[in-house]
Amino acid sequence: MSVDDKRKKMTVPDIVRMKEKGEKIAVLTAYDFLTAQLQDSAGIDIILVGDSAGMVVAGYETTLPVTMEVMLHHVASAKRGIRYALLVADMPFLSYQTGLDNAIMNAGRFLKESGAEAVKLEGGEVVAETISRMVRFGIPVMGHLGLTPQSIHAFGGYHLIGNEEKTAKMLIENAKILEQAGVFSLVLEKVPAQVAREITAAVSVPTIGIGAGKFCDGQVLVSHDMLGLFDKFKPRFVRRYADLGKIMHDAFDHYRGDVKSGKFPSDDESY
Ligand code: KIV
Repeated sequence: MSVDDKRKKMTVPDIVRMKEKGEKIAVLTAYDFLTAQLQDSAGIDIILVGDSAGMVVAGYETTLPVTMEVMLHHVASAKRGIRYALLVADMPFLSYQTGLDNAIMNAGRFLKESGAEAVKLEGGEVVAETISRMVRFGIPVMGHLGLTPQSIHAFGGYHLIGNEEKTAKMLIENAKILEQAGVFSLVLEKVPAQVAREITAAVSVPTIGIGAGKFCDGQVLVSHDMLGLFDKFKPRFVRRYADLGKIMHDAFDHYRGDVKSGKFPSDDESY
């Protein structure tokens, strides 16, 4: 069922205005047409095609193997299911770190070839110049600070980031640098709620938390996590809204039993 068929298409300025109006922003990841369509009709404001696709769709241990071609395919698939939500494409590892021209070209491909309306990049000061160039060329950028999974080997695990004074200060500093560079919003992943609160107060653009507490301007979850489809690990910040993994497993098991016992197909299901 649709939330409101008279909804207006979400744009980047609409998202920024939501913070000004104190309206919370609901964000989810999607990697395919059907999921994006269901999220769109449920009133989700931003659909992020995350490089988490590498883990929850392709089964890799990290997001690092994800390529531009894979992401272009997922973003274009999600695009076909969206009428209202803002579509953001996550730039995969090495698509923006190897030079400005390469980064602009790859970001532009998401807008040109898959219909994305913005891109997301991980990192602080180190990507500020890249972000600023993209923004000046008309490519809206969502930043991503805190636990940035493309740096998983440098972090040595999926740890909380910013729980010491020095790292908290760095996060706040980097948030201001990204705001200066022109991001229209900022994902904060796995940072203490009070640090996220400070960042949210310090920048004019919306913060979107994932494991960053309730003071952020919006929240994002990986759809496979909140649907109970991905159970390799379950971070504390994930709330399960459904147990689709069990529902799917039981359906597959039921079908297998019916085939083996000859209960499927029936005469009604035959020609
Ligand atoms: O890749 C992804 O899904 C993300 C979200 C967790 C923010 O970056």
